[in-house]
Amino acid sequence: MTTTQTYKCILTEIHEQIAILTLNRPAVLNAINNELMVELVSALESADADESVRVIILTGGQKAFAAGADIKEMSDESTVSILLKDRFATWDKVRRTKKPIIAAVSGYALGGGMELVMTCDIVVASETAQFGQPEINIGVIPGAGGTQRLTRLVGKYKAMEMILTGARITAAEAKAVGLVNKVVPPELCLDEAKALAQEIAQKSPLAVRLAKEAILKGFELPLNEALEFERKNFYMLFSSEDQKEGMKAFMEKRSAVFSGR
Ligand code: CAA
Repeated sequence: MTTTQTYKCILTEIHEQIAILTLNRPAVLNAINNELMVELVSALESADADESVRVIILTGGQKAFAAGADIKEMSDESTVSILLKDRFATWDKVRRTKKPIIAAVSGYALGGGMELVMTCDIVVASETAQFGQPEINIGVIPGAGGTQRLTRLVGKYKAMEMILTGARITAAEAKAVGLVNKVVPPELCLDEAKALAQEIAQKSPLAVRLAKEAILKGFELPLNEALEFERKNFYMLFSSEDQKEGMKAFMEKRSAVFSGR
């Protein structure tokens, strides 16, 4: 196991082609302050640039994945100060990550914590996980994508209910509405995320990257343009060694070994 760069608010390690980033402000339930977000973006950019990494896992603690943006840090902001700092712009950088991000969520994933989960690509939740957008209880609204991503994921009515009441839902409910892929006992959450990551790590990293890109584009483009985008990505892969290797291996009835070239 390799420990990579040291940060103050997150832990990072790389193990068998998987970078595991752990939010680590346990005293405040991993409340996301600016420092944490800057470090997280830096760690994601490093993982993205590191050819030995194929998949990223983002996780938190047992009690909380993250209980939201840091309310103490925000409480004295004015419209002008918060606009000038534009701190939430840093959050946009998370979604620019090209490698797949699997969230492994235990405990609270609230407000910005849940919004962070929704920028990930696959979500494994512990039975203990609780999801919610409680911003309405403190006089604001979700500000890091909640009103948009949640609505696209679960539809208008469930998003309205969650955002207007601030009520939390359990992992089982989150699975039922399509917010998480799998629900597992807490002690298995990270292992399940690692197993999924290992499976993806065996595929062509180029194909994984272009598939992720095409799926995310589909949230932004009309269907005909998104289909065109997908087709171009498909065609583009025919100039890769991985496409040659993948199809040759199929015909030779053996497992493909992908180089990422
Ligand atoms: N910001 C700053 N500190 C937080 C925090 C947050 N979002 N969430 C928890 N903490 C701190 C608490 O202040 C407390 O610190 P102290 O010991 O110094 O008082 C510590 O973490 C432990 O929290 P609690 O004592 O409250 O723990 P609990 O088990 O009683 O309750 C909880 C847990 C229900 C998650 C509760 O902490 C809570 O409601 N937290 C706030 C959730 C929230 O409103 N999140 C949305 C934030 S706004 C946002 O995220 C905007 C956006 O869209 C990006």
